[in-house]
Amino acid sequence: MPKCSLKNRILQLRVITCIFFILCVKAFIHFIITYGLYNYPHLPAEVLETQLFKQTTPNLVLQKNKPDCTYDKILNNPTTLLNWEVPKRFDDFSAKDLVNGSYVPAHCNPKFSVAILVTYRNRQSQLDIFLPYMHNFLRNQNIHYKIYLIEQQDEKLWNKGVLYNIGAKQAIRDKFPCLVLHDVDLLPLDAANLYACAALPRHMSASIDKFRFVLPYDYLVGGVLAITADQYVAVDGFSNRFEAWGGEDDDFSARLSAHKLDIVRFPREMSRYTMLVHRQEPKNTQRKRILSENRRLGDKDGLSSLPYHNTHVKNHRLFTLIGVML
Ligand code: BGC
Repeated sequence: MPKCSLKNRILQLRVITCIFFILCVKAFIHFIITYGLYNYPHLPAEVLETQLFKQTTPNLVLQKNKPDCTYDKILNNPTTLLNWEVPKRFDDFSAKDLVNGSYVPAHCNPKFSVAILVTYRNRQSQLDIFLPYMHNFLRNQNIHYKIYLIEQQDEKLWNKGVLYNIGAKQAIRDKFPCLVLHDVDLLPLDAANLYACAALPRHMSASIDKFRFVLPYDYLVGGVLAITADQYVAVDGFSNRFEAWGGEDDDFSARLSAHKLDIVRFPREMSRYTMLVHRQEPKNTQRKRILSENRRLGDKDGLSSLPYHNTHVKNHRLFTLIGVML
């Protein structure tokens, strides 16, 4: 009897070791698959300035007595924050020179006008960090910019694509030549990460701490993306069909690719972001299906075919709010 139980015990141990080994192999394979691209292809640092899309809105009156703003110092600024150094409170934030979320440098004529479109719902604590942090960051960049907060104010499923399309329409009406589509939970860490469009759509958040500072896949455009207004219109904006979390950015990436608009990126050392912690939103479990359906059907679905909605625009000092009821 004791002999048999010893045998059983050894067998049990073997099974446990085996299971443990299989789990380790599985975890290792998962790690390799999700490791992504550490050294992703990017624009060479020396040519960045020549690749930028220099255009301001016609509404901006350029002053003859001021010099043109320059950008080489910004693009070569090595200042960077470690993710845990990002301030989580802004007690003494100053809104100096901000009007309705917009800023124009006082000492020089900017070469860029950029509309920053932030889709939003129910993340007040993140917004309280995002707005002061971004204004402090952007006011150092010699650019003309305006932050639009596009808030979904109903209780329906979250629809980021529709919100971006609504925000883009407003920014285009305001004659912004460049749109930066921005998640509210992402904060840039590198001072050299100039908020400007390039000749091709520019994925700005290539290196996020949440993804171990590694680009998860090369066609990713989610997070922060700079795109010219003309390119946004050419691809008919975002699909309106993605509800809940995920997929709309992958669909947008497929639209860019169908229009032969390659994605460009700045080097890693200029593209780091920290992500503010939050609960994972409910995922859109249908996203893969809609994605492949959209590719097959290719019908009108986007900026030119927005579903019925109500909006109201309200100016605040730190942003222009576009409230949306779907
Ligand atoms: C989702 C995207 C998301 C990406 C990175 C994908 O599975 O479809 O929407 O941006 O993961 O989180």
